[in-house]
Amino acid sequence: MLSSKYTNRLFGRTRGRSKKKINLKKYNETIDKYKFQNLNEKLEYILDIGTGYGETSIFLAKKYPEKVIISCEKYIDGNIILLKNIEKNNINNILLHNGNVYNIIEISNKKYFNLVWIFFPDPWPKNRHAKRRLITSDFLIKLHKVLKENSEIYIATDSTIYIRFILNSIYKCKDYFNWVNQSEINLSIKDHFDIETKYYKKAIKSQRKPSLFILRKL
Ligand SMILES: C[S@@+](CC[C@H](N)C(=O)[O-])C[C@H]1O[C@@H](n2cnc3c(N)ncnc32)[C@H](O)[C@@H]1O
Repeated sequence: MLSSKYTNRLFGRTRGRSKKKINLKKYNETIDKYKFQNLNEKLEYILDIGTGYGETSIFLAKKYPEKVIISCEKYIDGNIILLKNIEKNNINNILLHNGNVYNIIEISNKKYFNLVWIFFPDPWPKNRHAKRRLITSDFLIKLHKVLKENSEIYIATDSTIYIRFILNSIYKCKDYFNWVNQSEINLSIKDHFDIETKYYKKAIKSQRKPSLFILRKL
C-alpha cells in the first residue's frame, strides 16, 4: 500500500494557470483504471519522475513495451493529457501515481527499478528555494537502494544553476554511481533520444542548451 506519510513536501502547481474547469469526477474515474497501487517483484519497472504532460512516459512505454512505466506527477492538467494519450495510443504499460515520488520510494523495500527518468526537474533557481530541489545526494542514494544492479538514472536539465548543483550531488555520490557520459563533448539529449517534452521545447525556444546526465549504479 502507498505510504500516507510524506517525508518530503511536494512544491509547485497542481492545476494549470488557465481558468478552464476540469471534470474532477471524470478525471478520478479515468485515473482509477491506471492508478499505481503496489509493486510486484515479478514485474520490471521504470520510474518516470515529474512527467508534466507525460511525453516521457509515452516515449518509454513504446520503447520498453515489456516493462511497466510508473509515471509520477501531481499536476492534474498534465495527467489529463497523459491519460488521453495512453488511450489514444492503446498503451497498457503505464501506471500513474498522482503525487510525490517519495511515496513510491518509501514503499520500495526491494530493488524494483530497472531505470529512472527525471526530465527537467524544477530548478528552483533562487537560493532561498534551493532546499526544494529534487536532485540531491540524499535523493540519489535513496534511488540507489531501489535500483537493480547496473541500472541507470537519466536526468535532463537546462538550468545552469541546477547543473552545478547536480554535478555536486553526483560528486558526493561517486561511491554509488558512475557518471557514464562524463567524457562526452556535449551532454545533448538528442544524441541519445528523439524526444521533445514541453520543458525541452521551452529551453530550445529560449536558447538554453539542455544537458543529460546518465548515472549507472555501482
Ligand atoms: C519543470 S516540470 C517538467 C515536466 C516534464 N518532465 C517536461 O520535461 O516537460 C517538473 C515537474 O515535476 C513535478 N514534480 C516535482 N517534484 C516532484 C516529486 N517529488 N514527485 C513527483 N513529481 C514531482 C512537478 O509537479 C512538475 O510538473
